[in-house]
Amino acid sequence: PEVNHTEFGTAMIRNFLYEVCGAKGQWTMGDYKDVAIRQIREKVGAGKVLLALSGGVDSAVAAALLQRAVGDRLTCIFVDHGLLRLNEGDEVERVMKGEFHVDVRRVNAQDLFLSKLAGVTEPERKRKIIGEEFIRVFEAEAKKIGKVDFLAQGTIYPDVVESGLGGESTVVKSHHNVGGLPDCVDFEEIIEPLRRLFKDEVRQLGLTLGLPESLVWRQPFPGPGLAIRSTGEITREKLDILRKADAIFREEMALAGLDRTANQYFAALTNMRSVGIMGDERTYDYAIALRSVQTQDFMTATWSRLPYELLDKVSGRIVGEVPHINRVLYDVTSKPPATVEWE
Ligand code: XMP
Repeated sequence: PEVNHTEFGTAMIRNFLYEVCGAKGQWTMGDYKDVAIRQIREKVGAGKVLLALSGGVDSAVAAALLQRAVGDRLTCIFVDHGLLRLNEGDEVERVMKGEFHVDVRRVNAQDLFLSKLAGVTEPERKRKIIGEEFIRVFEAEAKKIGKVDFLAQGTIYPDVVESGLGGESTVVKSHHNVGGLPDCVDFEEIIEPLRRLFKDEVRQLGLTLGLPESLVWRQPFPGPGLAIRSTGEITREKLDILRKADAIFREEMALAGLDRTANQYFAALTNMRSVGIMGDERTYDYAIALRSVQTQDFMTATWSRLPYELLDKVSGRIVGEVPHINRVLYDVTSKPPATVEWE
């Protein structure tokens, strides 16, 4: 008889898992959470844990998980480097402190980061500066807290792969939130409780932990923030422009009901200015790029086929509401060859 290979393969895998390995097939995210909490408790003992909150989903889920595991022995340092999205710093602080009762120490280091980034245009150099400054600010704040035994990070699986697995894969770029802590940092050990999870699993875990949907369904946001969504030199003016445009795009994606269909979307400020016309006036302003991608794992991605009506509305609102933008572009490039971010 003709063999259905798909069914045959599935039956073999089932047989291997259930008969050979003895798996029960009843695994849920609730189980994962319980196991993760137990493992963290075993590892941490009576120790104190420090976590860097970034404003993104991953570090928030890591904070919630750690809070459940070690309660008030967790302290979060939230370094506001001024590269966050519109109102993001306040929102993160409100949810984590107010709803989750996490001890959050916010450091407003916007001016410091901007001065260090002044004049820097090379993407890897920006990442290095942000990573180094981040650690310095973090370390200074950590010293105020006193002795800490563990440093926790919200690293997820794709971050680990892209930063190089044991020297076997090429380092695509330096993730400031993976690995690279200088020797002078006085922590005994690092904990990365999300290290084996993909993004969708991190979200599931967040919901299981009781985090609000508004936070769990936040757009993934990189550690170096808007610095890797703005090409060329980073200035306060450019960041303000970008923040406003990005907020409009996100708002319209949500209104169109596409905020959970697209896996990541944001605005990026190109460093390109060109001539335009506004009323009777000639303008010479920036072009903003909209980026939206479909992806399973963020290692490869295709661009989202967004409706023209939506793009039209976003474009009209951005040029109408955000000063210094006179052109809106939609990025129709997949990864590879492009990356998701614009740096
Ligand atoms: P790229 O641009 O490499 O992005 O295609 C893939 C995914 O990784 C995120 N990303 C980062 N996340 N720290 C992070 O936490 C980083 O330094 C970083 N760089 C990129 C990016 O947002 C996308 O989801």
